[in-house]
Amino acid sequence: MGSRHRGHARWAVQPAWQDAGMTDLVTMQRHGDVAVITIDNPPLNVFSPGVPEGVAGHVRQAEADDDVRAVVVTGAGRHFVAGADITTFGMPRDRAPDLLGLVDTLARSSVPVVAAIRGTAFGGGLEMALACNWRVAAPDAQLGLPEVKLGLLPGAGGTQRLPRLVGLEVALRMITSGSPIRAERAHVVGLVDEIIDGDLIEGAVAFAERIAGTDDALRRTHDMQVAVRGEVDQTLAGARAQAAATAPGLIAPQRCIDAIDAAVRLPFTAGIQRERDLFVELLASEQSRSLRHVFFAERTAAKIDGVDDRVEPTRVARAAVIGAGTMGGGIAMNFANAGIPVTVIEVDQDRLDTGLAKVERNYQRTVDKGRLDAAEMRRRIDRITGAVDFGAVADADAVVEAVFEDMALKQQVFGRLDNAAPPGAVLATNTSTLDVNEIAAATTRPESVVGMHFFSPANVMQLLEIVRGDATSDEALITAVALGKRMRKVPVVVGVCDGFVGNRMFHKYVRESFYLIEEGALPHEVDRVMTDFGFKMGPFAVGDLAGLDVGYRIRARQAADRDPGERYPAIADKVVEMGRHGQKTGAGFYRYEQGSREPLPDPEIHGLIVEHSADLGMQRREIADQEIRDRLLGQLVNEGARILEEGIAQRSGDIDVIYVYGYGFPAHRGGPMFHAGLVGLDAVLAITEHFHEQHGRIWEPAPLLRRLAAQGATFEDA
Ligand code: NAI
Repeated sequence: MGSRHRGHARWAVQPAWQDAGMTDLVTMQRHGDVAVITIDNPPLNVFSPGVPEGVAGHVRQAEADDDVRAVVVTGAGRHFVAGADITTFGMPRDRAPDLLGLVDTLARSSVPVVAAIRGTAFGGGLEMALACNWRVAAPDAQLGLPEVKLGLLPGAGGTQRLPRLVGLEVALRMITSGSPIRAERAHVVGLVDEIIDGDLIEGAVAFAERIAGTDDALRRTHDMQVAVRGEVDQTLAGARAQAAATAPGLIAPQRCIDAIDAAVRLPFTAGIQRERDLFVELLASEQSRSLRHVFFAERTAAKIDGVDDRVEPTRVARAAVIGAGTMGGGIAMNFANAGIPVTVIEVDQDRLDTGLAKVERNYQRTVDKGRLDAAEMRRRIDRITGAVDFGAVADADAVVEAVFEDMALKQQVFGRLDNAAPPGAVLATNTSTLDVNEIAAATTRPESVVGMHFFSPANVMQLLEIVRGDATSDEALITAVALGKRMRKVPVVVGVCDGFVGNRMFHKYVRESFYLIEEGALPHEVDRVMTDFGFKMGPFAVGDLAGLDVGYRIRARQAADRDPGERYPAIADKVVEMGRHGQKTGAGFYRYEQGSREPLPDPEIHGLIVEHSADLGMQRREIADQEIRDRLLGQLVNEGARILEEGIAQRSGDIDVIYVYGYGFPAHRGGPMFHAGLVGLDAVLAITEHFHEQHGRIWEPAPLLRRLAAQGATFEDA
């Protein structure tokens, strides 16, 4: 048990007294007449079962001991308490950690209690501190109530006590944003009573001794009044409007405001009851279930089935990127941002200079926006060097290839890497459509070859598909995943197939959007349905942003293999053939004003679409929002089911993570596969069968969807 200050020479440390049966997750030691209770549940001291009960038990013991004048509650290691243990959320009441009981014990304690905070005091951790009589903090402390990010509200008194300490305005901001504040600011707003610069425990004990004798020693947060700077109704209405604008469709921020409203207007106990009711409502809500699913799925995604736990990632001290184009430049920035020196290799000096100049401009823009300081930019740029020959990969532990999407070229590049790269180096390709196994076959070490599929812009997008080839070694795979994490990406392991997980599904989704406009909808109508659902952009706005020529070239390349029995959405080609490639040409499915990225519906395109439908002999019809949504989501889910069944994705949660982090799928809907489970797979199957009858075999239900629907299961059960 690593309570740091145990045995501290300056105090007469008495043996810890513990209740029989009380776990060693929480210990208590005497420092003179102050009892210090330490939570030691590494790494973050979350409220696992036994933790809140342990603290409450020690507080009661201290209350019963006449020699104890005050209590300090703190966390061992670097953190106070990072919050609830969210794995316990669904637990039955009698087994779940009793945070409410602890908060109650602290709020009524007959000895003054001082929370001594360092590192993170989040969620339930901060709520515990709020129920104490006093709070002191180390300068590194961060205090916050992030529950809203999981679609919840602070349900252990946080919404009632925080406003009483910091006032209405600050509490609204902290609770509805979920963002933490630092110790210094917490001190200014009244959340923290004293900043302790030296040893935190020593300072906290001294503070406790000082207040113990005063009349105010047992001041209680719940007895305080909420300070309001402005006019209550107006402030609350403003907060509601702002939350609706920044988080459209989300209910948790609004419920947070309801609870704070109660803190201002109701007596404390009534406010607590209101908070409880709202918390219970949110806990059961689809939005919170979805957000918690994504939270867990992201953490699970980096775990790889069938890999030996003992395999360690290779240390990557130096890297190389082949190609300084759109993707290569962004990938080089990822290395530099992660502190890894990287050499970018191009075919000639001209292209190299162009590529590197673009990287510099990118960094400069971030500095101009105030998101990076100039000195740090310099350090990052200095980590990137250029070269025009492959000799430069000789000392690279990892290489990422990002040359043109052409198999012959990629094979040639990998042949050269095979000769030049040191043994054991990870050789990654950023291909978006080509067969990683074929690329690996160009080397004598296919076990070192892996896909690292970044998304554009590579320095911004968080998603990273890690493609596992047939021969890819566990070591190469784990190294690629670890590298992705160092770059602060969300790596998800996928198998080899055309488009991997994300683009393979996206292709079906986009194709369906083309069918819809051929049948009667207009691009902005389709897009509006999807943004109403919660996507940041609809499929047509995305196409315009990414460039419509990309899909055009892919369709042209696949023309020879096209299934003549499958309806071909020729409308997309017609738009590109008009020279409308999307935002970069000022027009695509929408038109754009000079210098603006706002998609504007364009009568010219509408005319083209109507004419095209007539050419196809199609009677255009009004298409209901529900049908648009069912068809677009239905294609995602049906293809996702096939991907899951083929083992291209390890688990349905991985697909959800890919869609939330790479394709703008709303997190509060949980990702396409989780969402299908909420709708009910039997209902999803019925929709799929209905469209199958209408539109033929592109709607053939995936066997896995049929099987799970028949079992009354969800994709998580697959
Ligand atoms: P790009 O055309 O912008 O850049 C390719 C660069 O590779 C060019 O600068 C070219 O000079 C260089 N190059 C060609 N042959 C080379 C060689 N033998 N040695 C060194 N450099 C060489 O292409 P982009 O968009 O960056 O795509 C690169 C790869 O990334 C492709 O495989 C593409 O499918 C993939 N990708 C592209 C995405 C995108 O949105 N653009 C997204 C994800 C993957």
